[in-house]
Amino acid sequence: MTSFTDIYTLSNGVQIPCMGFGTYNAKGGDNLAINRTAIEAGYRYFDTASLYETERVLGQAVRESGIPRKEFFIVSKLWHDERGYHEAKDAFARTLDRLQMDYLDLYLIHWPRGMEGDTDWKEKDLDTWKAMEELQAEGKIRGLGLSNFLPHHIEPILNNCKVRPVVDQLEIHPGYTQEAAVRYCQEHEIRVQAWSPLGRSAMLEHPVLKEFAEKYQKSVAQICLRFLVQKGIIPLVKSSSMDRMKQNQDIFDFEISVEDMSFLDNMPQNTWLGEHPDYAIPKKRSNFEQ
Ligand code: A2P
Repeated sequence: MTSFTDIYTLSNGVQIPCMGFGTYNAKGGDNLAINRTAIEAGYRYFDTASLYETERVLGQAVRESGIPRKEFFIVSKLWHDERGYHEAKDAFARTLDRLQMDYLDLYLIHWPRGMEGDTDWKEKDLDTWKAMEELQAEGKIRGLGLSNFLPHHIEPILNNCKVRPVVDQLEIHPGYTQEAAVRYCQEHEIRVQAWSPLGRSAMLEHPVLKEFAEKYQKSVAQICLRFLVQKGIIPLVKSSSMDRMKQNQDIFDFEISVEDMSFLDNMPQNTWLGEHPDYAIPKKRSNFEQ
């Protein structure tokens, strides 16, 4: 990748921007303003989810921009309690309604399983996937994907699907590189995306990353993002400021050396955000209808 506007071609032929903008965690009026600013800053790939409660404002920002829908790449996800054949179809309809759009570029299962008591999570994921395959066949989704799926969650899908997943979205940043899952995805032509590429900003004060920033004359955030891009991983970065939104795009004029990449790949594990598909307690969506 040599510029912010470069693209990857997914295994189903769909083209995806090499960086996306995450819409998690800034709500209400602020979030509308943030999305508007992100569009102005040049972002066209937006990542949302029913959990985030940002679909409505994202749709509004896209409409109000006057930029044609097809120039955007819009991704959303269904939540734990939206898994299941009928549940997924209903969830998708709600998502399109909130976005006020007639198709998604990608639709993902947000997490592979609910927690306690979700003993039939494999069957539920497969039922969900079947519904998503049908929605794609109806022309409403351009590609199907996964989020927070580890190899043992992906395997049942690959063994039973008609349509293969084209992406998997994982928490990845220096200090939490999930090498085994990344390798598995790469072996199965599933493009990896990184959520919280800055470790929810916890990485920004890391002394070694600060040294790297000094060495490359870039910010720590830029080091984290460049690290991912050099690994062929799509960062989904969030920011509320135009300056930082632009700064985060400015990572294509330098190269992290092979030696430094190895160092970053092999840092001690740190700043894991504490959410694991097999152990974390799922959040409850606060308000389904936003
Ligand atoms: P802000 O909105 O003030 O820019 P992550 O994507 O890993 O979850 O991290 C998101 C956090 O990182 C946000 O709080 C955001 O704060 C901050 N952030 C994003 N870009 C930068 C940057 N270039 N420099 C410093 N902080 C950043």
